[in-house]
This record gives sequence, C-alpha cells and structure tokens, in this order.
Amino acid sequence: MKDSKDFWDKAAEKYIKTPIKDEATYQQKLAITQEFLRSDSKVLEFGCGSGATAIFHAPYVRHVVATDISDKMIESAKSKAVEAGVKNIAFEQGTLESLKLQNESFDAVLGLNVLHLLEDVDDAIAKVHQILRKDGVFVSSTSLIAEINFAFRWLISGMQLIGLAPYVSRITKNGLISKLMKSGFTIEREWQTSHESVFIVARKI
Ligand SMILES: C[S@@+](CC[C@H](N)C(=O)[O-])C[C@H]1O[C@@H](n2cnc3c(N)ncnc32)[C@H](O)[C@@H]1O
Repeated sequence: MKDSKDFWDKAAEKYIKTPIKDEATYQQKLAITQEFLRSDSKVLEFGCGSGATAIFHAPYVRHVVATDISDKMIESAKSKAVEAGVKNIAFEQGTLESLKLQNESFDAVLGLNVLHLLEDVDDAIAKVHQILRKDGVFVSSTSLIAEINFAFRWLISGMQLIGLAPYVSRITKNGLISKLMKSGFTIEREWQTSHESVFIVARKI
C-alpha cells in the first residue's frame, strides 16, 4: 500500500498535466454517469486523481466525497475545486479500506481507472456494495490488463521492477462482471470503450 502511495505521489504532477487521451469517450462516460445522478445524490469517488470528474459532477448533486491514496493528487484536486468555485466536495486522502465510510450512505460510487490498480478487487467491490444504499450505483472504468498485448504486458512488468509502473491486476471484462454480480450488483450498462477498457454501471440489489 505504501509503495502504491509513493508511486502515485511521484506520478501525480505528470499525470495531472497529461491531456485526456480520448476526449469524446470521456465526455460520453460523464454523460452516462449523469443519467444515474440526481440533485439529492450523495456521491463517493475513490481514486479521484486530478479531481476533474468530481468537479464536473458536483454542481448536479448534493454532495461529493472525493478520495485518493495520493496526498499530491488530493492537494491538486482541492485547489482545482477552489478555482472552479465548487464548494460541495469533501476531499480526503485514503483508500476504501483506510477511510471511515458509513455503510449504506452513498447513492453513487465512482471508481474510474482505478479498480485494476487494487491488489484485492473483490474486497473493493464488497466495500463499495456495503457503503452504497439499496439501488445505488457503482460506476467504474477499468483497464483490462489481460487484454493488453503480450509485449506491452512484459514492458509493464519490467517497468514495475524499476518502480516506473504501479501494481496492476490482470482483470478481464467477464471476470469483473462476474465479481460484481456475485457481490450483489446487476449490470445496468456495459460499454467496452476499447479492446483494453470497459465502462460499467452496476446497481446494488
Ligand atoms: C489512473 S489514475 C485515475 C485517476 C482518475 N480517476 C481518472 O480517471 O483520471 C489512478 C488514481 O487512483 C489512485 N489510487 C491508486 N491506488 C489507489 C487506492 N488503493 N485507493 C485509492 N486511490 C488509489 C492514484 O493515486 C491515482 O490518482
């Protein structure tokens, strides 16, 4: 866990400056997410990174809790929210395990480009299920590491050895869907945005 925090603290400055690779897909994900939010929604985003997504959704909901393992990401996200004049986001450094998150207290949880970075995806999904209200939604966007070509996977392994890449789990789309369903979710939307990435909206039943 400390390795992951150190990695993301170091990577934060560069990550925040990197433009979104596919703006049209990002905008479409924001639009789909909005279909599941209401003006009285309480939303958690874990692994919020630069905070851009939380800042986008905040004006349309009651309250957002935006969290990240990296202090540097949180610092930057906080100042972006101030610049944007958004006042209903509480930023907190931490993880799903370390933060005190009340059971059945959120209407929506967002985990964008983060599930594949977690060492225990099952635990994370179970925690998300626990903190969501009944009928609440879990919106995730996940890199399908198992689908990435063999040479690139080797490159990632090499980079991990020298601290230039974070831990990643070899998750598949069907594997992720099956974990969500086993944990008590139904799948509302499933959009494979590319060969190597899947966007899912799952509802707690
Ligand atoms: C690839 S970035 C994605 C950031 C943002 N969600 C986005 O879509 O642009 C992954 C983010 O997850 C954070 N992260 C990594 N491991 C985490 C964990 N165990 N708990 C919470 N955040 C984590 C990193 O610090 C980083 O900000």
